[in-house]
Amino acid sequence: MNSNINSSFLNDKRVFEQYFLSNSFISQENFKDSMATVQSMLLERFGSLDKSYSGESILTLQDRIKQMINSSSSKSVNKVIDEVGEVIVQHSININHPLCIAHLHCPPLLSSIIAEVIIGVMNQSMDSWDQSGTATLVEQELIQWFCKKYQLGNLADGIFTSGGTQSNFMGILLARDNAAKKLFNWSIAKQGLPPQAHRFRIICSKDAHFSVIQSARLLGLGEQSVVEIPIDENQHLTASAVEKYFNILTQQDLLPIAIVCTAGTTDLGSISPLQELGRCAKRLDIWFHIDAAFGGALLFSQTHRSKLIGIELADSLTIDFHKLFFQSISCGIFLLKNNAHFDLMKINVDYLNPESNAEVGLPDLVSKSIQTTRRFDALKIYMSLQVHGEVLLGEIIDYLIKLTANAAKLIASSPDFELATPPIINTLVFRYIPSNIPNNKKNGYWYNYNSINDQVRLELLKTGQAVIGFTKFHKQSYLKFTLMNPMTNLSDIKGLLSKIRELPLNE
Ligand SMILES: Cc1ncc(COP(=O)(O)O)c(C=O)c1O
Repeated sequence: MNSNINSSFLNDKRVFEQYFLSNSFISQENFKDSMATVQSMLLERFGSLDKSYSGESILTLQDRIKQMINSSSSKSVNKVIDEVGEVIVQHSININHPLCIAHLHCPPLLSSIIAEVIIGVMNQSMDSWDQSGTATLVEQELIQWFCKKYQLGNLADGIFTSGGTQSNFMGILLARDNAAKKLFNWSIAKQGLPPQAHRFRIICSKDAHFSVIQSARLLGLGEQSVVEIPIDENQHLTASAVEKYFNILTQQDLLPIAIVCTAGTTDLGSISPLQELGRCAKRLDIWFHIDAAFGGALLFSQTHRSKLIGIELADSLTIDFHKLFFQSISCGIFLLKNNAHFDLMKINVDYLNPESNAEVGLPDLVSKSIQTTRRFDALKIYMSLQVHGEVLLGEIIDYLIKLTANAAKLIASSPDFELATPPIINTLVFRYIPSNIPNNKKNGYWYNYNSINDQVRLELLKTGQAVIGFTKFHKQSYLKFTLMNPMTNLSDIKGLLSKIRELPLNE
């Protein structure tokens, strides 16, 4: 790609064509060449990456990246692609590696990666019809398809989001605004928070995702509004606990406005009894938001979909496609049982979505989103469903759940490892308790085991042998496997446990 612009041609748009995708010969050749170079670079790099992380030190990488950013800016595209491969791709976290198992972070399906290329080339923006055309129709139809799949009823609607954090934010925003309208005939959109807002309370369990607290902060309710109530011995939020706390709160003259329940908690994957909680929310006449960012994908599993019974009772629902639907980041949806609730956040602006557009049947999705410019992420899940159907996705999920159960058996039968709880979906929380290292209890903390497990994760990460998760369980340090990669098998896990035993750890 030639970057020298002859200034005598500066007024001729064809000089610039080579830098964009157009119908000119030079543009099309440049696109083909660059895509071919990118393809070879990625195949070569991914073909040679045999670790989950190269193990290169952060300081060395910082220096390399500084040098790259500060170097001269007129390089050929092929040179830049080479450098990206050599430094950025080579030393990235290799999410496709079987031992890259820390987070709810999946290897994307090829169908999703290919869709990303099309999304980038089309560069549609989903805020208005006149920036997206058919993309809006695809998004709307997919949203309706998922509303039906989750049986949310005839009035349901939704929107694609950047993921679980944004979807949870929207659920809590609408719960807040709906409560103000219902209780005080107050429009937060127009009038700001009502004087009673400091009494609003959101009931969830202590293992709800942190985005619930973050949303409450951002929505002006403060952390004080989130009441994290205890879970039972099965790690469930129960209706009886919710009712108990609802009564305590109301006796204190507080105003519980919503239950936020998790279908698939981040660490243990626990799914609270959705039906029981949904009925409870109805009885108490408060908003029922289900965060199914993780567990929502069980919909496609023949074996495990019954765990989602009751999901249809949600007033609002968070689903993430960049977790167990194997889509590239970012891709999620927010679904709403009653589309009229979108009116609580709707803004019409002259340049984008004037009311006259709706009158002539032009759908401008910005009215349902907290984003303006927004990616056409719907194409990814559309293409994956077209290529693979629901069955393959269900089979992958079933495989991962079985793999997790088998890995749990392996851990449970090893005297030097200890499971926190039996797995529920595809996460496994456990710790290393080597018998040759004495465990000292100080101020209620198992000092040595905590330090050992901290070291295990960091040592594996530093050396690139594996990227595994880490969390607290009953305030003690635990390790976590999140098995999102169907290319991981039981011998990979066996091998990893052996590697852990061989790590040089300090007592
Ligand atoms: C249960 C749950 N909800 C919400 C989120 C946030 O999702 P995202 O990272 O897509 O914003 C996560 C992330 O792991 C999660 O586990």
